[in-house]
Amino acid sequence: MSLWQHLARAYFDTVYSPLYDSTTAHLSRYVDSQKEMAARLRAEGRHRVLCVGLGTGNELTSLRARAPELDIVGVDISPAALARARRKPAGEGQGTAFALVDAQQLAFRDACFDRVLCYHVTDFLRDPAKATAEMMRVLRPGGHFVISFPARSEGLGLGAGLLAHGLRSRGPDGASAGRVRGVTALLLGGLIYLPLMLRPRPVIFAAGQLEPLLQPLGARECIIETDPVYRDHLVSGVKNAGGQTHAA
Ligand SMILES: C[S@@+](CC[C@H](N)C(=O)[O-])C[C@H]1O[C@@H](n2cnc3c(N)ncnc32)[C@H](O)[C@@H]1O
Repeated sequence: MSLWQHLARAYFDTVYSPLYDSTTAHLSRYVDSQKEMAARLRAEGRHRVLCVGLGTGNELTSLRARAPELDIVGVDISPAALARARRKPAGEGQGTAFALVDAQQLAFRDACFDRVLCYHVTDFLRDPAKATAEMMRVLRPGGHFVISFPARSEGLGLGAGLLAHGLRSRGPDGASAGRVRGVTALLLGGLIYLPLMLRPRPVIFAAGQLEPLLQPLGARECIIETDPVYRDHLVSGVKNAGGQTHAA
């Protein structure tokens, strides 16, 4: 592992993953966007789904709410994140597998997944293009993907917006966020987001760069939207029947 990967894993293991479910995962915008992504992915029946950068496993919950019998593989570089995902009800049972795998080097054979989801992960990667090629390689022809790409430097504005939204948000139980809980969320959120806001994003994309990146990898019917939570590009599409199956 490179120094960057060591640092990223240490941050996700010790700060981000332990606090994620008590901060970000409570944002109503985040919950809604998880549901929307599960809908866009069109996973159904016993589809084999790869979640790249699964994190603490909230994607499992939204995917299983739509299709309980999915065969889901979640990969991440953070053992702490995967341990949390494994403990979630949606992560239990034989239909879910977890693997400590780098998104830029997916240890799976070509075309072995029906669906690939990668949300808010490529902006932590030194080589998001390589990760994208890997995701398209392991996706079968005719399979659907949803991948988000960093649009710009996150900056203080985004952090402030997320935190303000978090303070106004209701929890999953529907209870209003009280003052104490709001202040706690503010402090915890600040702890999570400060390193993210201050870091230089390794790579960012203009919307016009995404089709040229994805089409040679076999993507078609690409829809490019703005992610409501992180203001990144959210791309959904299908791999064509003659699409590339080998990593670039
Ligand atoms: C912002 S979280 C998103 C988690 C999840 N996709 C969600 O939306 O809840 C980013 C995740 O990407 C993981 N990650 C960072 N670099 C990675 C890499 N090179 N390969 C795989 N996962 C990585 C982190 O450990 C973290 O769990």
